[in-house]
Amino acid sequence: MIFYFSGTGNSRYAARLIAGETGDTAVSIGDAVKSGGARIYHSEKPLVFVCPTYAWRIPRVAERFILENRFEGSGLAYFVLTCGDHAGNAARYASKLCAAKGLTFMGTNAVVMPENYIALFEVPDKAESEKILERAVPKILAIAGRIRDGRALTPDRVTPVGWFLSAAVNPLFYPFVVSARGFYATDACTGCGRCAALCPLNNVALEKSRPVWGKRCTHCMACICACPVEAIEYKNASKGKPRYYLPDSPAGISPKSGHDD
Ligand SMILES: Cc1cc2nc3c(=O)[nH]c(=O)nc-3n(C[C@H](O)[C@H](O)[C@H](O)COP(=O)(O)O)c2cc1C
Ligand code: SF4
Ligand code: SF4
Repeated sequence: MIFYFSGTGNSRYAARLIAGETGDTAVSIGDAVKSGGARIYHSEKPLVFVCPTYAWRIPRVAERFILENRFEGSGLAYFVLTCGDHAGNAARYASKLCAAKGLTFMGTNAVVMPENYIALFEVPDKAESEKILERAVPKILAIAGRIRDGRALTPDRVTPVGWFLSAAVNPLFYPFVVSARGFYATDACTGCGRCAALCPLNNVALEKSRPVWGKRCTHCMACICACPVEAIEYKNASKGKPRYYLPDSPAGISPKSGHDD
C-alpha cells in the first residue's frame, strides 16, 4: 500500500507512479487525517510512505499518521522523500520510527522535485519545474522497481551538514517557523473556497467569502500555491514569486504540467 502526503502535488505524483509500477493502491494521508480517527490498514504488499521533506526529515504530520494507525500484513516499510534539494539524514529518523512501530525498515531515498516552499525560498519557474520533473521520473521508476522486487533501497549519502540539519535544525523548525500567521488573502480573492478544500489539516475556513487560517498549519503550501487567482500571500516573502502546484492526474501521468495555469 502506497501512502502519500502532499501539499503541492509532487509526492502525490511520485506515489501514483510507484503505485502504477508496483500494481498497488495509493492512499492519501491528508484525506485520512481530515476524516479523523485511527484505522487498521492491512496489506500483504510493502508499505511505501511518500512525502515531502520538511526540515530534512519526514513531515511530522506523516510521522503522527504512522504512529497513530495500525499496519498489518507484510510489515516492510519504504520511505520516498521528495525534496527541493536534499533530505539530510532523514533515513535515520524513518528507521527509528519503524523500530518504534515494529515495522521492518527497507530504506529511504530522496528524489529532487520542484521546490515548493514559497514562504521561505526561491521557487523554480514553469520551464525549470518541467525540467526538474522530467529528471525525477527515472529516479522514481528505479525506486519503484526495487520496491516491486522486494529489495532494500540503497542508502543516500549523508554529509555532516545533512546530519546536523536533520538533528539540530529540524526540532527548531516547527516551534519557530511553522505557523499560518503570515498568510493573508488579497482583494483578488473570489471566494471560490479551493484553499479551504485543499488544506490537508482543515486549517482554512471561509468567513464572509474570504479565507481565515487556524492554528493547525504544517506549512504544506497547498493553500497559497493552488489558489487559482494567486490571491494568497505569505508576509512579504511570496510576492512576485511563481506558484508551483502539480495537479492530480491519476489516469495519465505527465510531467508537463508543473504549474497550475
Ligand atoms: C515546510 C517545508 C519544508 C521543506 N523542507 C525541505 C528540506 O528540508 N529539504 C529540501 O530539499 N526541501 C524541502 N522542502 C521542499 C519540499 O520538500 C519539496 O518541494 C517537495 O517535493 C514538496 O512536495 P509536495 O508537492 O508533495 O508537497 C520543504 C518544503 C516545505 C513546504
Ligand atoms: S483559493 Fe484563492 S480565490 Fe479561492 S477562496 Fe482561497 S484565496 Fe480566495
Ligand atoms: S493552512 Fe495552507 S499551508 Fe497550512 S496546512 Fe493548510 S494548506 Fe497547508
